[in-house]
Amino acid sequence: MRSRSTVRSTGTLVWYDQPAAGPFSAAPEFREARPLSSRGSAVGHELGKVIRSFATGVCVAATYTDTPDGRRHDAITVNSLTSVSLEPPLICICLPGNSDFLSALRSSNLWAVSILHTGGDEVARILESDRQSRMAALPSLTAAPGPSTGALVLDCLGWLECVLRDEFDAGDHTVVIGEVLATGAQERRSPLISLHGRYHATGAPRTAAPPVPTGDIR
Ligand SMILES: Cc1cc2nc3c(=O)[nH]c(=O)nc-3n(C[C@H](O)[C@H](O)[C@H](O)COP(=O)(O)O)c2cc1C
Repeated sequence: MRSRSTVRSTGTLVWYDQPAAGPFSAAPEFREARPLSSRGSAVGHELGKVIRSFATGVCVAATYTDTPDGRRHDAITVNSLTSVSLEPPLICICLPGNSDFLSALRSSNLWAVSILHTGGDEVARILESDRQSRMAALPSLTAAPGPSTGALVLDCLGWLECVLRDEFDAGDHTVVIGEVLATGAQERRSPLISLHGRYHATGAPRTAAPPVPTGDIR
């Protein structure tokens, strides 16, 4: 059974200022503590700028609406994918509360996530556009309905098919929790990376690959 709840700010959170001369010229200073609400929009703006330095993978979330005229697929580029739990298998993505995609997802309850490889940057650009443009482009993409959900799975590194398990309002976004029904992976290719508002390929690893297990590991 799906529930709906809201994460509220307590109003007692405090914030840190960056030192004026740069982040590494001194340890971060704890300069002032004020209720978050008095700095809300300014901190939100700073969050938007700072989080661009957090490199993520890039996925496509897909769902659909069944209409009298047939099934209408929708898909969007997302980088908020997080693995939440292995038992039961849960993942989440974050969507704006007024998202068209979220409305479609609520109508079918079913969705899929395709983790893009480096060659998926063009697909990612297409599916970050408005709903009309991306739905017009969908038939030209290499994609097929997932066997467990019917939501589109793209040419990708790995895919997850989900049922909508829960959702929580959190500020101006909704955290959408999916229970994973089925997974799949294709041949090893490099993942597409989102960083500083652009798409990147991964570079050389900084450490040696871990040894491949040969025996029974307990
Ligand atoms: C790299 C990248 C990551 C994105 N990640 C998300 C995300 O996690 N959640 C989200 O709602 N939109 C994300 N977007 C924006 C969506 O791709 C899309 O533009 C937007 O959700 C469409 O909103 P709509 O459903 O109201 O039409 C991302 C865009 C880019 C370029």
